[in-house]
Amino acid sequence: MPYPILKKSELAPNTVMMQIYAPLATKKMQPGQFVIVRVTPNGERIPLSISGWDRDKGTLRIIVQAVGRTSTELINLNAGDFIEDVVGPLGQPSHLDRYGTCVLIGGGYGTGAIIPIARELIARGNKVIGIIGARTKELVLMEDDLRSICHRVEVSTNDGSSGTKGLVTDVLAGILKQEPVHMVTAIGPVPMMKAVSIMTRPLKIKTFVSLNAIMVDGTGMCGACRVEVGGVTRFACIEGPDFDGHQVNFDELVYRQKMYIPYEKKAMELCTCK
Ligand SMILES: Cc1cc2nc3c(=O)[nH]c(=O)nc-3n(C[C@H](O)[C@H](O)[C@H](O)COP(=O)(O)OP(=O)(O)OC[C@H]3O[C@@H](n4cnc5c(N)ncnc54)[C@H](O)[C@@H]3O)c2cc1C
Ligand code: FES
Repeated sequence: MPYPILKKSELAPNTVMMQIYAPLATKKMQPGQFVIVRVTPNGERIPLSISGWDRDKGTLRIIVQAVGRTSTELINLNAGDFIEDVVGPLGQPSHLDRYGTCVLIGGGYGTGAIIPIARELIARGNKVIGIIGARTKELVLMEDDLRSICHRVEVSTNDGSSGTKGLVTDVLAGILKQEPVHMVTAIGPVPMMKAVSIMTRPLKIKTFVSLNAIMVDGTGMCGACRVEVGGVTRFACIEGPDFDGHQVNFDELVYRQKMYIPYEKKAMELCTCK
């Protein structure tokens, strides 16, 4: 049965939020998990983080940034259209505990993914500070949503058009000078997650990153999502996507993410979705 898109709104150029009716997937959903969607009957399967859900209504919310063929086909759909498959929840929930002060850092679609984590950490008695990073003001996503949940939210933009001029690590460095931080979670582009992990490692602050490895089946059978964590091969789809940022081999992750670029370019060239 295809899955209806109930709402769609544009958050930034090439970036949309969608609310989808997928009651089975929402039943056991936990913060940090993801779904795999197939947009068309013959299309590829792509993983997307969950940015929110309503179990009573059977709806879930995703943030999609168009970067290639399938994500472009998806953002071209509108409310009233259908997605062929929505499979989930997949992956392990985030490490939710009572830490003390937590800093949650989101870049791009990662800001949507930290929202359910923030909500649950606050419910467990933590103080939660959110940091949103973007290149420029118009790419800052979900700021109002995050402000409505967190104790404090900071923004960084590369060009200084909103919040602090610089990177999320500049904001994090400031927070670390102001107060003790007991846990950091970063979700977004790999260079951002790597830089955050490098900053927190010498301070021994527990740091989680959500690894956006290439995934196919999402159930531990194909091996596409192999990542190296602490010198051991792990499958991001069933053992992650969250891992200890101090243990991740980010260089290997980037290498594997780029493996199919010639095929991805070809797929985009052949697509009528542009
Ligand atoms: C756990 C997880 C959660 C994610 N959450 C989100 C999200 O909430 N919103 C969002 O916009 N994006 C998310 N992504 C990334 C998203 O899956 C990719 O952008 C998408 O698959 C790109 O497919 P494409 O055909 O549009 O682009 P392509 O041109 O095919 O690929 C562009 C780049 O995206 C990556 N990619 C391609 N195929 C896959 C795949 N099957 N699995 C993972 N990465 C792939 C590769 O690095 C590739 O170079 C997530 C990825 C993972 C692993
Ligand atoms: S996506 Fe196939 S094993 Fe993880």
